[in-house]
Amino acid sequence: MKKIQIINGPNLNLLGKREPAVYGSVSFESYLDTLRVRYPQCAFSYFQSNHEGELIDKIHETGFDCDGIILNAGAYTHTSIALHDAIKSVGTPVVEVHISNVHGRESFRHHSMISPVCKGVIIGFGLDSYRLAIESFL
Ligand code: DQA
Repeated sequence: MKKIQIINGPNLNLLGKREPAVYGSVSFESYLDTLRVRYPQCAFSYFQSNHEGELIDKIHETGFDCDGIILNAGAYTHTSIALHDAIKSVGTPVVEVHISNVHGRESFRHHSMISPVCKGVIIGFGLDSYRLAIESFL
Protein backbone atom coordinates (compact mmCIF):
# COMPACT_ATOMS: atom_id res chain seq x y z
CA MET A 1 0.00 0.00 0.00
CA LYS A 2 1.48 3.37 -1.03
CA LYS A 3 0.94 6.14 1.51
CA ILE A 4 0.28 9.39 -0.34
CA GLN A 5 -0.33 12.71 1.38
CA ILE A 6 -2.19 15.37 -0.59
CA ILE A 7 -1.79 18.93 0.68
CA ASN A 8 -3.78 21.86 -0.67
CA GLY A 9 -2.97 25.44 0.22
CA PRO A 10 -4.96 28.67 0.43
CA ASN A 11 -8.36 29.09 -1.19
CA LEU A 12 -8.38 25.51 -2.45
CA ASN A 13 -11.05 24.69 0.15
CA LEU A 14 -13.34 26.57 -2.24
CA LEU A 15 -12.74 24.26 -5.22
CA GLY A 16 -16.05 23.74 -7.00
CA LYS A 17 -17.27 27.21 -6.03
CA ARG A 18 -14.18 29.36 -6.67
CA GLU A 19 -13.77 30.76 -10.22
CA PRO A 20 -15.24 27.63 -11.86
CA ALA A 21 -14.07 28.79 -15.31
CA VAL A 22 -10.48 28.43 -14.04
CA TYR A 23 -10.69 25.68 -11.43
CA GLY A 24 -13.76 23.65 -12.46
CA SER A 25 -16.97 22.93 -10.61
CA VAL A 26 -16.04 19.78 -8.68
CA SER A 27 -15.18 19.95 -4.97
CA PHE A 28 -11.88 18.40 -3.94
CA GLU A 29 -13.65 16.06 -1.52
CA SER A 30 -15.75 14.51 -4.28
CA TYR A 31 -12.74 14.28 -6.61
CA LEU A 32 -10.83 12.53 -3.82
CA ASP A 33 -13.61 9.92 -3.60
CA THR A 34 -12.99 9.07 -7.28
CA LEU A 35 -9.23 8.80 -6.67
CA ARG A 36 -9.80 6.40 -3.76
CA VAL A 37 -11.92 4.15 -5.99
CA ARG A 38 -9.45 4.33 -8.89
CA TYR A 39 -6.34 3.65 -6.79
CA PRO A 40 -7.21 1.00 -4.18
CA GLN A 41 -3.47 0.30 -3.83
CA CYS A 42 -2.97 3.79 -2.34
CA ALA A 43 -3.85 5.14 1.09
CA PHE A 44 -4.59 8.83 0.61
CA SER A 45 -4.51 11.37 3.39
CA TYR A 46 -5.80 14.83 2.64
CA PHE A 47 -5.05 18.14 4.32
CA GLN A 48 -6.01 21.67 3.34
CA SER A 49 -5.10 24.91 5.06
CA ASN A 50 -5.20 28.59 4.31
CA HIS A 51 -2.26 29.15 6.67
CA GLU A 52 1.37 28.90 5.57
CA GLY A 53 2.64 27.61 8.94
CA GLU A 54 0.07 24.82 9.00
CA LEU A 55 1.20 23.67 5.54
CA ILE A 56 4.79 23.61 6.81
CA ASP A 57 3.75 21.66 9.93
CA LYS A 58 1.99 19.07 7.75
CA ILE A 59 5.05 18.67 5.50
CA HIS A 60 7.20 18.10 8.62
CA GLU A 61 4.66 15.68 10.11
CA THR A 62 4.23 13.51 7.02
CA GLY A 63 7.50 14.10 5.18
CA PHE A 64 9.37 11.26 6.84
CA ASP A 65 6.84 8.47 6.77
CA CYS A 66 4.82 8.51 3.58
CA ASP A 67 5.79 7.50 0.05
CA GLY A 68 4.94 10.78 -1.59
CA ILE A 69 3.46 14.20 -1.04
CA ILE A 70 1.36 15.94 -3.67
CA LEU A 71 1.37 19.66 -2.94
CA ASN A 72 -0.72 22.40 -4.45
CA ALA A 73 0.56 25.35 -2.45
CA GLY A 74 -1.84 27.79 -4.15
CA ALA A 75 -0.57 31.36 -4.08
CA TYR A 76 2.17 30.45 -1.56
CA THR A 77 3.84 28.71 -4.52
CA HIS A 78 4.86 32.11 -5.78
CA THR A 79 6.00 33.63 -2.49
CA SER A 80 7.08 31.14 0.13
CA ILE A 81 10.76 30.60 0.91
CA ALA A 82 9.53 28.86 4.09
CA LEU A 83 7.72 26.19 2.05
CA HIS A 84 10.81 25.79 -0.13
CA ASP A 85 12.87 25.14 3.01
CA ALA A 86 10.28 22.73 4.46
CA ILE A 87 10.23 20.62 1.28
CA LYS A 88 14.02 20.57 1.27
CA SER A 89 14.07 19.43 4.91
CA VAL A 90 12.07 16.21 4.52
CA GLY A 91 12.96 12.88 2.94
CA THR A 92 9.70 12.21 1.11
CA PRO A 93 9.56 13.34 -2.53
CA VAL A 94 7.12 16.18 -3.15
CA VAL A 95 5.36 16.69 -6.48
CA GLU A 96 4.10 20.22 -7.10
CA VAL A 97 0.75 20.43 -8.85
CA HIS A 98 -1.41 23.19 -10.25
CA ILE A 99 -4.90 22.90 -11.61
CA SER A 100 -4.63 25.85 -13.98
CA ASN A 101 -1.83 26.56 -16.45
CA VAL A 102 -0.11 29.22 -14.38
CA HIS A 103 2.14 30.13 -17.34
CA GLY A 104 -0.87 31.25 -19.34
CA ARG A 105 -2.01 33.57 -16.54
CA GLU A 106 -0.70 36.69 -14.79
CA SER A 107 3.09 37.07 -14.76
CA PHE A 108 3.19 36.90 -10.93
CA ARG A 109 2.12 33.26 -11.27
CA HIS A 110 4.97 32.35 -13.61
CA HIS A 111 7.58 31.89 -10.90
CA SER A 112 7.49 29.08 -8.35
CA MET A 113 9.56 29.27 -5.16
CA ILE A 114 9.10 25.54 -4.62
CA SER A 115 9.75 23.93 -8.03
CA PRO A 116 13.55 23.68 -7.55
CA VAL A 117 13.11 21.47 -4.48
CA CYS A 118 10.24 19.33 -5.79
CA LYS A 119 10.70 15.99 -7.52
CA GLY A 120 8.63 17.28 -10.43
CA VAL A 121 5.88 19.66 -11.42
CA ILE A 122 2.49 19.00 -13.05
CA ILE A 123 0.65 22.06 -14.29
CA GLY A 124 -2.54 22.83 -16.12
CA PHE A 125 -4.48 19.58 -16.44
CA GLY A 126 -7.35 20.59 -14.17
CA LEU A 127 -7.95 18.21 -11.27
CA ASP A 128 -6.35 15.51 -13.41
CA SER A 129 -3.01 17.11 -12.40
CA TYR A 130 -3.38 15.29 -9.05
CA ARG A 131 -3.98 11.94 -10.76
CA LEU A 132 -0.91 12.42 -12.94
CA ALA A 133 1.09 13.15 -9.79
CA ILE A 134 -0.17 9.89 -8.26
CA GLU A 135 0.94 8.01 -11.38
CA SER A 136 4.44 9.43 -10.87
CA PHE A 137 4.62 7.64 -7.51
CA LEU A 138 3.41 4.24 -8.84
C1 DQA B 1 -3.10 27.28 -8.36
C2 DQA B 1 -2.44 28.43 -9.13
C3 DQA B 1 -2.02 29.55 -8.19
O1 DQA B 1 -1.43 30.61 -8.91
C4 DQA B 1 -3.21 30.10 -7.45
O2 DQA B 1 -2.82 31.07 -6.53
C5 DQA B 1 -4.03 29.03 -6.79
C6 DQA B 1 -4.24 27.77 -7.50
C7 DQA B 1 -3.63 26.20 -9.29
O3 DQA B 1 -3.87 25.09 -8.81
O4 DQA B 1 -3.86 26.45 -10.48
O5 DQA B 1 -4.56 29.22 -5.71
O6 DQA B 1 -2.11 26.68 -7.52
